[in-house]
Amino acid sequence: MTEATHDRAIRGRFHRWFLSTTEELLEKIHGDRKRALFAKLEGNIVELGPGTGANCRHYPKGASVIGIEPNLKMHEPLRANADRHGVDLEIRGLRGESLDLESDSADAVVCTLVLCSVDDPGQVIGEALRVLKPGGRFVFIEHVAAPAGTWLRRLQGWVQRPWTFWFEGCRPNRETARVVEGAGFSRVELDAFRVKSAFIHVSPHIAGVAYK
Ligand SMILES: C[S@@+](CC[C@H](N)C(=O)[O-])C[C@H]1O[C@@H](n2cnc3c(N)ncnc32)[C@H](O)[C@@H]1O
Repeated sequence: MTEATHDRAIRGRFHRWFLSTTEELLEKIHGDRKRALFAKLEGNIVELGPGTGANCRHYPKGASVIGIEPNLKMHEPLRANADRHGVDLEIRGLRGESLDLESDSADAVVCTLVLCSVDDPGQVIGEALRVLKPGGRFVFIEHVAAPAGTWLRRLQGWVQRPWTFWFEGCRPNRETARVVEGAGFSRVELDAFRVKSAFIHVSPHIAGVAYK
């Protein structure tokens, strides 16, 4: 283990179990959107926080992907998922806030349900921008804060502490759209939508592509 990685016995296992168990359910929710967003991916791809590898099925066969995953508990199922779907995956135990990748080296950076969990989303997106080639794509699907003043936003605040604890840093009330739009991309295409979920506090979402 390094400073950038973690390997929590109980929460790490719980989080890994949750992601594996809900993979098919989340695929029903996000599959169409992922197919549309991932269709044009090619070249050198970096995925931030791939978890147990839910996105592997969406990469073109033989795609070359560097997975930036600080949670060591995810690495084994992530590797298995990549092998199952023919993804040439290199896992790096790093945090998205500090990537050991060259500037202007990636054709795409993929990030699904991760910016809620990172310590500093502005820094993570700054790193994504740095490593993307000019014209490269930042592809994202994220659950986000409900509009300020709504009952859903209040609910997100009430559940935040236990949710953040069990999901290793995930914050249901993060204003991620603002961070993506203010990051300095040349163009941002962003859709806001709600998903049907028993976990209603994480139902507001955004998805889209931002171009360097
Ligand atoms: C909710 S899971 C999403 C996993 C996967 N992207 C998906 O869509 O199923 C969040 C993931 O982000 C990872 N993560 C948390 N903080 C991170 C950071 N600072 N940099 C990169 N990944 C991080 C977690 O370890 C976890 O695997």
